[in-house]
Amino acid sequence: EKGRYDHFMRKEISEQPTALAQTIEGRIDASEEGEPIVTDGSEAASRGDSVSTPGADGVSLEEFPPGTFADVSAIQFVACGTSYHAALYGQQLLARRGVSAQTFRAGEYAMSPAPVDDDTLVIGVTQSGETADTLESLRRAAEGGARTLALTNVVGSTAARECDDAMFIRAGPEIGVAATKTFSSQVASLGLLAERLARDVADSESEDSRQLLAELSTLPETVQRVLDETQAMEVVDRYRAMDSYFFIGRGVAHPVAMEGALKFKEITYEHAEGFAAGQLKHGPLALVTPNTPVFAVFTGRHTDKTLSNVREVQARGAPVIGVVSEDNREVIDTVDAALTIPEAHPDVAAVLANVQLQLVAYHVADYLDRPIDKPRNLAKSVTVE
Ligand code: F6R
Repeated sequence: EKGRYDHFMRKEISEQPTALAQTIEGRIDASEEGEPIVTDGSEAASRGDSVSTPGADGVSLEEFPPGTFADVSAIQFVACGTSYHAALYGQQLLARRGVSAQTFRAGEYAMSPAPVDDDTLVIGVTQSGETADTLESLRRAAEGGARTLALTNVVGSTAARECDDAMFIRAGPEIGVAATKTFSSQVASLGLLAERLARDVADSESEDSRQLLAELSTLPETVQRVLDETQAMEVVDRYRAMDSYFFIGRGVAHPVAMEGALKFKEITYEHAEGFAAGQLKHGPLALVTPNTPVFAVFTGRHTDKTLSNVREVQARGAPVIGVVSEDNREVIDTVDAALTIPEAHPDVAAVLANVQLQLVAYHVADYLDRPIDKPRNLAKSVTVE
């Protein structure tokens, strides 16, 4: 039931705090319920106490106790669409913890799989657990001897049944064709899984990852703060009848830029593309005009570099909408409009920025009177290759 909302998509965007609370419930060891984890500069740190998440571990994943992945020496992600963007985010979280992973579009991997052996873990990221290309990729990987893991929302789905391991994102049912709350729950789940993998595979833990876990534990409230904003609607009023919409970002903001563009094109039917910010000058800049708004996603990392890309497109007359931390005056003063997010760890900021972009896509589609929950030519789960 849509309740007070006009569309399931809008309802599901609003459900993200609840979905995220379910995703993380019982999976993060914190010092005290709801208390931020002790970090540098705290009283405990200055006393010389160990600065760590109490308990043996930062994450407690019932399905994956410590050591579960001790034999893994290579990691591959296979996924489609929004789930592919979540996988790219997961790959970056792992890289920052010293674990290398590769991410493949499942439609390609199914045709030409990457080499695997029995130390390879192949993770299928799939909300429905029924996407044909992803299932086929997982089957090909298993034939090659790899261990397979389904990261999915649907208990009892084909992916969950066929893979060696499954982790459920627990977002609750998603009806709208456009994936929204499941993307947020996928990336939060990947934050937890990356922590387990990093400790098992690379024996890596860091203050930075503890900080991320602490902020993941309060993500439901932080996302609620973004949802309470009305900026997305105001921005849409200013920039809704343009030629094309571009989305740029670096690091974890790159998959968010691609996801922002995918959501935008699929429900508004307007042309939208997402780019790695540094890629602009290698071609896409030729498309930039005063009629192509550019959404620039800032997470707190690589700010100066992304700002210089912002100036490049502004010099061609493009209006820039920055998605940026509310305390980043330099960016806010440079861009033409800002969608602000609470100050957060960069990997959390990416999730918050994505929520703002979901709202932008929704409001433009609503203004254009599109059939938001069932866009033309698209199906919720793509069961043909
Ligand atoms: C976009 C969208 C699709 C799916 C893709 C994979 O909003 O919903 O791009 O993300 O079809 O679906 P799953 O995750 O079910 O494998």
